[in-house]
Amino acid sequence: MKQMTLDLTKATCFVAPDAMKALEPQVMAAMNALEAGTCAGNDFLGWLHLPTGLTTELLADIKACAQTLREHCEAIVVAGIGGSYLGARAVLEALGDSFSWLKADNNPRILFAGNNIGEDYLSELIDYLHGKRFGVINISKSGTTTETAITFRLLKRLCEEERGKEMARKVIVAITDAKKGAARTTADKEGYTSFIIPDNVGGRFSVLTPVGLLPIACAGFDIDALVQGARDMEKATAVDVPFDQNLCAQYAAIRNVLYQAGKKIEILVNFQPKLHYMNEWWKQLYGESEGKDGKGIFPAAVDFSTDLHSMGQWIQDGERTIFETVISVERPEHTLAVPSDDENLDGLNFLAGKRIDEVNHMAELGTQLAHVDGGVPNIRICIERLDAYNIGALIYFFEKACGVSGLVLGVNPFNQPGVEDYKRNMFALLNKPGYEAESKAIQERLQ
Ligand code: PA5
Repeated sequence: MKQMTLDLTKATCFVAPDAMKALEPQVMAAMNALEAGTCAGNDFLGWLHLPTGLTTELLADIKACAQTLREHCEAIVVAGIGGSYLGARAVLEALGDSFSWLKADNNPRILFAGNNIGEDYLSELIDYLHGKRFGVINISKSGTTTETAITFRLLKRLCEEERGKEMARKVIVAITDAKKGAARTTADKEGYTSFIIPDNVGGRFSVLTPVGLLPIACAGFDIDALVQGARDMEKATAVDVPFDQNLCAQYAAIRNVLYQAGKKIEILVNFQPKLHYMNEWWKQLYGESEGKDGKGIFPAAVDFSTDLHSMGQWIQDGERTIFETVISVERPEHTLAVPSDDENLDGLNFLAGKRIDEVNHMAELGTQLAHVDGGVPNIRICIERLDAYNIGALIYFFEKACGVSGLVLGVNPFNQPGVEDYKRNMFALLNKPGYEAESKAIQERLQ
């Protein structure tokens, strides 16, 4: 299996020649603190050795549960938000057929809900599910997240009405805390199959737990290969791998070097539409981990070449506070060439016979050169192909680099105190019991 590579040459040329070397002690100190469990947020380091720690028994249980759901369901709704949603979606989109939702094959259709409060979205989902053999995977670590809980309440009732209580018990699965939260209480009371999200694994670092692995297995993808990719990356980026060869140390270092040089926005770029949700997952991972204490690179993302026709101008020519990180995929899974045309009315015969992917790679190279010329540092992550192994490796790479990068920045990368503020206001506005004082204060503020 070809190892992922990281090319920093078109980023380091924007900073002082010794800038990376100068940050090495800090980066390696962060790597050591992670490993020793002495860093900020050290009660949330369960993800660090998760790949090598996953047991054959747990993987077998996940596969068995997925098999039951696949047997009994033509659609499976994954209810979850944030870290309880984005990882699974990113992997499914990256590995799946772009048009699988139009195809009648043997795989159940995986749907996502519980990640918004859209009345139309939920109504249309319920309409779609009527008369279908569907199941639900309810994912919430806290077990109390409003978006997911409202959705689950609707889906549980629908599933029981449509499929009967006994079948509902078989096709509703909970992934939540071992002891606390409403999702755990309901799962235990109803006798649902359930999986535990370890206490020491935060939501955005949980894709390699049942949170991500069960939906991925339900869709029919190879979770062993995904985990193997992550395991190999765990070894390749271990604390004893020297700074110059350690992909996570290098990525964490260059991000901080660029940030210190005034590059406040990182744009994650892909040239494969299937990676759109990998961008979304990455935004959450880095945004929630680093954006605190008045600091942090703003994580943005684009899909090229699509967004070259919308954001391209800004990136080429706008304020020079950005850098790009490109995920480059060496080869596609299909073969398709530009056809020749006798009339050549569109003037494209100069491309006849060329693979579509060659055109895409020239767009990628041309864009990189143009953006570097325009003053945008460019980091390039290259993976061989979009398969489970490489996606598993990429996930672990981003997670570990994120932990290291956040510690170098000087924040606790494993908490998210800022996301509580909107919830407090929302609960106050909705008169949730226990929020009486906040309700009074917010109503006065609105007068
Ligand atoms: O990364 C995180 O911790 C968050 O994004 C959570 O995953 C998200 O808020 C959902 O929380 P829960 O799983 O408790 O419903």
